[in-house]
Amino acid sequence: MGRKKIIVTGGAGYIGSHTVVELVAHGYDPIIVDNYSNSFPEVIDWLEELIGFRPINHNLDCCDYDSLKKVFSDNSDIAGVIHFAAYKAVGESMEKPIAYYQNNVNSLLVILNLMEEFNVKHLVFSSSCTVYGTPDNGIQVAENSELKPPASPYGHTKIICEEIIQNVCGNDKIKASLLRYFNPIGAHRSGKIGELPIGKPNNLVPFITQTAIGIREKLTIFGNTYNTPDGTNIRDYIHVSDLANAHIKALDYIGNKQNEKCSIFNIGTGNGNSVKEVVDAFEKATEMKLNYQIGEKRAGDVEAIYANAQKSNSILGWTAERTLEESLLSAWKWQLNLKAIDFKLD
Ligand code: UD1
Repeated sequence: MGRKKIIVTGGAGYIGSHTVVELVAHGYDPIIVDNYSNSFPEVIDWLEELIGFRPINHNLDCCDYDSLKKVFSDNSDIAGVIHFAAYKAVGESMEKPIAYYQNNVNSLLVILNLMEEFNVKHLVFSSSCTVYGTPDNGIQVAENSELKPPASPYGHTKIICEEIIQNVCGNDKIKASLLRYFNPIGAHRSGKIGELPIGKPNNLVPFITQTAIGIREKLTIFGNTYNTPDGTNIRDYIHVSDLANAHIKALDYIGNKQNEKCSIFNIGTGNGNSVKEVVDAFEKATEMKLNYQIGEKRAGDVEAIYANAQKSNSILGWTAERTLEESLLSAWKWQLNLKAIDFKLD
């Protein structure tokens, strides 16, 4: 039997590119679809170096039904779709809510239509711990924890998309896994691919590594008066390659006839770390001093949230393996590699 073809939307993006590497390592044949709206075409070159051949890639927008249809019709034997492509900036979604609904919901609908039309049955969807909103029954959330009102249009698109997929799975034509990611960090161990935010990073770890290398003057920790042991926010930071591996497990899971039609899994380590702990761990792992200050709280930040990952551990057979220090060191290696190849982000 040949390698199973998997369409990977957003395959040039941060999580998408790491998943492409794992797909190839596990005998799949990824077909990347990306319009580079928040990624770079160079990622395809770097993937080629890593996997030893140029991955098939199509520069198109997933909301463009006709163009995406051609990818489906040119490949008669697609085994599944992993749908990463989406807008993901919480703050931006407050300013441009319509664009977020338009892009994130429409692209999913186009994909579901094409899956039905071409009889493609398996879908893995990128969801987020943002669907839990601000949890009040303790900070460790499980898949059956209540979904609180979303704090942003971005978060709302993830809830809407989850619901659409759950309803569509009811008709028995499609099986899906909704993966609720916690905070992905780090980079492939080679340092050849990693997180490439365009402009000033919103996320913590790229801000740390850019500060350490001198692109940013200093990191601002957004608040230290939260009700946590050191006053800074708590998150569940997971290495992106561990996260990528969860997609392979999800494809295996969906492929087993006995399994749920629409499964939901938390993809996190199960450990919470504060922002201050992340900064300390970075300094320890790299033996560098980071220039940082304490600033105002950031609007919309949830005080503390981390995963109950028991369902993923026992049912999916997946566990996060890499430590926080390993993850931060890999992010640093990636930042050094970008400097070495003189890659300009802005
Ligand atoms: C958020 C969303 C997540 C989304 C992700 C995409 C929630 C709960 N999570 O993650 O679903 O996929 O954005 O970007 O809505 N921090 C600083 N200084 C900085 C940057 C960050 O102190 O310069 C702190 C933040 O206050 C937060 C932590 O670092 O406590 C992590 O922030 P970030 O990396 O932006 O991720 P989330 O906001 O947790």
